[in-house]
Amino acid sequence: MDNQAVVFARDLSKTFGSIRAVNGISFEVMQGECYGFLGPNGAGKTTVVRMIYCRTFPTSGILKVFGLDVMKNRREINTMIGVAPQENNLDPDLNVIENLIVYSRYYDIPRKEADERGKELLRFLSIDERRKEEVTKLSGGMQRRLVIARALINNPKLLMLDEPTTGLDPQARHLIWQRLRELKRKGVTMVLTTHYMEEAEKLCDRVAVMDSGKILAEGSPHELIRKYAGEDVFEIRHSEDDGIWGRLNGLDFSFEKAGDTVYIFSKEGNEIGKRLLPIRDAEILHRRANLEDVFLRLTGKELRD
Ligand SMILES: Nc1ncnc2c1ncn2[C@@H]1O[C@H](COP(=O)(O)OP(=O)(O)OP(=O)(O)O)[C@@H](O)[C@H]1O
Ligand SMILES: [Mg+2]
Repeated sequence: MDNQAVVFARDLSKTFGSIRAVNGISFEVMQGECYGFLGPNGAGKTTVVRMIYCRTFPTSGILKVFGLDVMKNRREINTMIGVAPQENNLDPDLNVIENLIVYSRYYDIPRKEADERGKELLRFLSIDERRKEEVTKLSGGMQRRLVIARALINNPKLLMLDEPTTGLDPQARHLIWQRLRELKRKGVTMVLTTHYMEEAEKLCDRVAVMDSGKILAEGSPHELIRKYAGEDVFEIRHSEDDGIWGRLNGLDFSFEKAGDTVYIFSKEGNEIGKRLLPIRDAEILHRRANLEDVFLRLTGKELRD
């Protein structure tokens, strides 16, 4: 099976001194798939993606990209992948289009082709009007779009996106999501990391939830939601009524308390809704379960770093 996977990892680890940034994880990313890594700050997401794009070597385990060992075939792997790293590492001394052209030299793309492809990519990411602008004058959203355009200059078969939309406004995020979905329809395989559960639900076929260097759960967003959060969630705030539990007698649900809120997770939303109706002092929010519920249930509600 492993020769079909675009990315194949077995017992993959990376340590920095005494820090186990990635601690024995296994996963596969299949052709045409969008695979997401979720996890709190410091979970190890960036370390995993940096190993996939050969920017840092594994300490132990197997990691193959297009069937090639990352330890031995770095150059070959790099010709097939595009990378948008977590930090925008654009060259501030160059303007927008020059940032793309310079990058194209790493791939030995002829100048004329690079010019054409650069213009096309700037149009694709709606920054072509700023073609001659210094990159330092671009907004955060435009810089991010330029980083993504740059990642596409070599027509990659695998696109690596480390937090593609962090800090962007909703308009910029939606544009990027549109474009990433277009690329996916064209068959580009993607690996992304994100802190936005909505982004993962909208883009990813499968996600891995990481914490402390390990994968806690893996599956499609839908599967994970059903498995870890059920279908319905009730958020009950400021309730003085300890009678909640008595009212829910005999129903199948699980719950969690965090601060002033009780979360009830269940597949029997209608029945629970009816039984909670008489509670008047509380503020009750009834909504569908989502990936954020899964994330918080698996990784807890405590602050990180
Ligand atoms: N070059 C390095 N040297 C030492 N420690 C590192 C290095 N890179 C990462 N780490 C540590 O490895 C752990 C995982 O870091 P990583 O950047 O992979 O997390 P992350 O999941 O991407 O976090 P974030 O969501 O904040 O981007 C952290 O404890 C981090 O401090
Ligand atoms: Mg990171």
